[in-house]
Amino acid sequence: MKEIASNRKISQKLVSMITAAALLAPTALTAQTPPPGGKPYTSVPSVPIKRCANLGNMFEQPKGAAWGGRMPVEKDLAEIAAIGFDTVRFPVRWSAYADSKPPYTIDPEMFKKADEVVDWATKHKLNIIVDLHHYDELFTDPDGHKDRFIGLWQQLAEHYKDRGENVFFEVINEPHNKLTNDVVEPMLTAILADIRKTNPTRKVIMGGDFWSGISSLETFDPPKDPNVIATFHFYEPFNFTHQGASWVNPSPPAPASFGSEEDYAWLDKMADATIKFQQRTGVPLFLGEFGAIDSAPLKERARYTYAVRKQAEALNIGWCVWAYTNTFHVRQGEEWIPSMVAALGLQQAPAAKSEESPAKSE
Ligand code: BGC
Repeated sequence: MKEIASNRKISQKLVSMITAAALLAPTALTAQTPPPGGKPYTSVPSVPIKRCANLGNMFEQPKGAAWGGRMPVEKDLAEIAAIGFDTVRFPVRWSAYADSKPPYTIDPEMFKKADEVVDWATKHKLNIIVDLHHYDELFTDPDGHKDRFIGLWQQLAEHYKDRGENVFFEVINEPHNKLTNDVVEPMLTAILADIRKTNPTRKVIMGGDFWSGISSLETFDPPKDPNVIATFHFYEPFNFTHQGASWVNPSPPAPASFGSEEDYAWLDKMADATIKFQQRTGVPLFLGEFGAIDSAPLKERARYTYAVRKQAEALNIGWCVWAYTNTFHVRQGEEWIPSMVAALGLQQAPAAKSEESPAKSE
């Protein structure tokens, strides 16, 4: 316990040091810079995801709506793999593509579209997390939608049962409102039991309440299963990451910067919550979403992304940046954003490199 606590301090200090160095002189990081963390904090099994990109705002908006996003094409998956990601998270609003009455049949056309993305990811040697995203009615009326939720997963489990180990499931994105931990946990247990009938060892990801923020980790108890991975999302400080967000009311003012002591204290809170959770449950963790919105100045977004990514790595936690080409861009059109690529510690092909970056000398 003591050792863990002091390791945590080291990691905080390390991240602050590295971040401070990057702030002062983005090219100053050298091979002498100590590696972040490196040592796992607990004996929890490791998660086979290190660097992941969310295919956000592509298939998770209401049916027919566009959230400024575009649909993925095979080239996206090829480029995501080429730059060094090992995983994509694939949020789909499955509930919008299924009957409202039993057996809640999922539209075969939606399966066709999703399968195409799963095939591309598999072809390019990426893990892909099939994520049931934005089941809004479940959050407001858990009792009324429980059977349908279970029915959706029976079909998803059956549909993907013959896929390779690179396909992961994520049962429900960001439980909130009436879907508190004590309400969602029995549902997760029932759904996992169904999944296990057809997918005995598939990795299954699940997160807790309050939009799976770090506070959910205090009480979240996922069902016991060696292939369950718990997830959390990190958007703190929220007023920075969601500045100007149209879906937040009132929308936090933009432009806002990141970098005060108070801002960095959130990284300590992340360390504290994740270490305690893993000690209490023995379940490994995955950071399923983090990032900062486009209305934040790019330099600030990059600084924030760098700090959170480093902290996750110091904690030996795989991460998934929100959201590739949409709203929280890492890539703009056909181009990766160099400072974001650097912040994520990825490596751009030399021909495409257009600016000095921490990643270059990391
Ligand atoms: C939601 C997105 C949102 C993001 C950041 C995700 O879980 O699906 O719509 O942009 O969180 O708020």
